[in-house]
Amino acid sequence: MMLSPASSTSLLHQDAIDHDFSERVRNMFNARAENWNRKYLPRGKLAWRLDAFCETLRECVQPPKEVLDFGCGTGHLAAHLCGHRYRVTGCDFAENMIALARENFGESAITWVELPTRWSRLPFADNAFDAVVASSVFEYLADIHLVLGELARVLKHKGVLIFNVPNPESFRRRRESWSLQVTKQDWIRSAICTIPRVRRYFTYLDLSTNRYGLNQWEWSTQLHGFKRIRKLLQRQDQRPLFMLAFRKTILWSVDAPSSLYQEP
Ligand SMILES: C[S@@+](CC[C@H](N)C(=O)[O-])C[C@H]1O[C@@H](n2cnc3c(N)ncnc32)[C@H](O)[C@@H]1O
Repeated sequence: MMLSPASSTSLLHQDAIDHDFSERVRNMFNARAENWNRKYLPRGKLAWRLDAFCETLRECVQPPKEVLDFGCGTGHLAAHLCGHRYRVTGCDFAENMIALARENFGESAITWVELPTRWSRLPFADNAFDAVVASSVFEYLADIHLVLGELARVLKHKGVLIFNVPNPESFRRRRESWSLQVTKQDWIRSAICTIPRVRRYFTYLDLSTNRYGLNQWEWSTQLHGFKRIRKLLQRQDQRPLFMLAFRKTILWSVDAPSSLYQEP
């Protein structure tokens, strides 16, 4: 397909916006790496996630199987799954996060992969993994379809994708959305962001942008040949995060989502 000069210019422009966004996400997590690490201390704020992901994964794929922890951060989920006999690869584009993962858990059992900020293809072979987990990553993606396409490529047929994302219906997410609404005007934002803690909160809100409902996640993943695993949905409620699980049903593809063949 030939692109007109106008459309190729706008694609390049979109590309630059996406790269700038990814750079900001990476910078935010590089700056927060030490603090993030502490959230996984025993009784830390995020420690509950480890069992939640592991149980969901075990319902779908029994160890030992190949698992990719996409956006692995400081490596705690990867290490937890490894402790449950999965063979785990963790990848992330924030170098400070993944440096802590290496420092925390070493190189022997888990393969850590640092991605370039502007990655457009994951450095893994087609059909390499039985499962992909992504804990609190999808809400920060500049280009969800690029990532879903790549995760579909590296997953085996019938492979499983499990991720958690903010639940826009929950009280906390509604409050976040309200905070963004009432600070839309630049002068209000500048005034309150003189307080470092408030500035950090709004940096997070500006970058945690993909606040989709269940249907939209289902629709987006379907475009890449994923089908939701329904039995896991009973646990959805008003929690600030919900966990979704999908199975890859693609038999054949040539890059573009429209050419995917799905099993009936
Ligand atoms: C909220 S942290 C979660 C880290 C870890 N999964 C956990 O639950 O502790 C999000 C992570 O995703 C990574 N990330 C976000 N977008 C990414 C992308 N496009 N490619 C690779 N990593 C990404 C960030 O660098 C960050 O480490």
